[in-house]
Amino acid sequence: MSEFKKVAGLTGMKDALPPETARWERLEAIVRDWLAGYGYQNLRTPVLEHTRLFARGIGEVTDIVEKEMYSFVDPLNDERLTMRPEFTAGIVRSAIEHNFLYDRPRRVYAMGPVFRHERPQRGRYRQFHQIDVEALGFPGPDVDAELIVMLARLWRLLGLKDIRLELNSLGQAAERAAHRAALVAHLEKHVDVLDEEARRRMHSNPLRVLDTKNPAMQDMANAAPRLFDFLGAESLAHYRGLCDRLDDAGIAYTLNPRLVRGLDYYNLTVFEWVTDRLGAQGTVCGGGRYDGLIELLGGKPAPAVGFAIGMERLLDLWQQDAPDQDPAECQIYLVHQGDEAQRRAAQIAESLRDAGLRALVHAGSTGFKSQFRRADASGAVAAVVIGGDELASGQATVKWLRAGDAGQGQQESIAFGQLAGKLQQRI
Ligand code: HAM
Repeated sequence: MSEFKKVAGLTGMKDALPPETARWERLEAIVRDWLAGYGYQNLRTPVLEHTRLFARGIGEVTDIVEKEMYSFVDPLNDERLTMRPEFTAGIVRSAIEHNFLYDRPRRVYAMGPVFRHERPQRGRYRQFHQIDVEALGFPGPDVDAELIVMLARLWRLLGLKDIRLELNSLGQAAERAAHRAALVAHLEKHVDVLDEEARRRMHSNPLRVLDTKNPAMQDMANAAPRLFDFLGAESLAHYRGLCDRLDDAGIAYTLNPRLVRGLDYYNLTVFEWVTDRLGAQGTVCGGGRYDGLIELLGGKPAPAVGFAIGMERLLDLWQQDAPDQDPAECQIYLVHQGDEAQRRAAQIAESLRDAGLRALVHAGSTGFKSQFRRADASGAVAAVVIGGDELASGQATVKWLRAGDAGQGQQESIAFGQLAGKLQQRI
């Protein structure tokens, strides 16, 4: 026994093992096809960025920047670095740096891990994964609608039920400023019911104060002036333009004037897809328009809109709505006895793979009985047996394994040279 004390994984950071990983891979494949159908191209950015990118992009007075980022000082050059808590800021940085969006607008996506130091619970992790989609350089509202229609298609492709769309408009900076003044006045009037966090934020980020879950503050929040009521004609026309297109596509939505999102870069359209079937963390996807972010991060001004899906939450919902059996490790399991038979089985397995079949050769020298147990556990449709008799006759014994199959329990002999062709026809 080793002296080394075993090491556990980190809190809030999950391993994914087979067969669960097969679902991840299937989801990723479906998502790539779905995105290709709308002309989205993959853009990959590093996990690490300068901390100031996120502080500026997401906003200093947000939960993410104030308390959830994994940041550290790189001792080699004294730089403050952060593991990305989202994709948008990094993608915008990259697009600016490579002059990627000025010749023509761009539709891009990224998929991968992001990091937030939150209290873990079902659907909330410290390392989680996002499918992030950004349309850079489009003023909308046509593209805002396209993104939402596209999401409705993904839910359909996956067979998801009970997922609903909430919309809001955050207007433009001047409208938010007018609303903000009214809101701060309201908060000041009700300062006695505000909790500590709300008092701290009432001047720096009053909109986020309304996002509170504190029951004692609900009445105050419900009575607060609504940003939506401060929207001018242009912002309302943008919102109407989005709604008309959602109506065209037959997509239902509700206006939620309290929806503000947890990141500061949004204007006009914001939306979330939510469900009641994931416990407390019911938001599967969130996004919106961020027309000011590219300029804020040092680029030439250009409008943009996007969203991110939480993959763990999406998988949880998908598993509920479309549960499936464990996928098989292989289609054919080759069992053998003796050195020569093992070598022959390895060659035959290669010929099966040439024919597009998934094959596993038993490894190690155990008896037939335990090899057949392994063959069963692998989920294979058939076992191909190569023993002394088979080597002598040049014919493999094929045993059909799967319950429910017409051929289950049957066995037959097939010449080595014909195995690939015959099995390929039958499977
Ligand atoms: P977000 O709302 O912060 O938006 O995150 C998007 C999604 O990530 C959430 O709706 C949720 O499904 C998932 N998520 C967030 N935190 C966690 C967590 N701790 N554990 C598991 N899943 C989580 C953004 O990140 C924006 N960048 C979206 C965007 C893109 N807006 C415009 N473009």
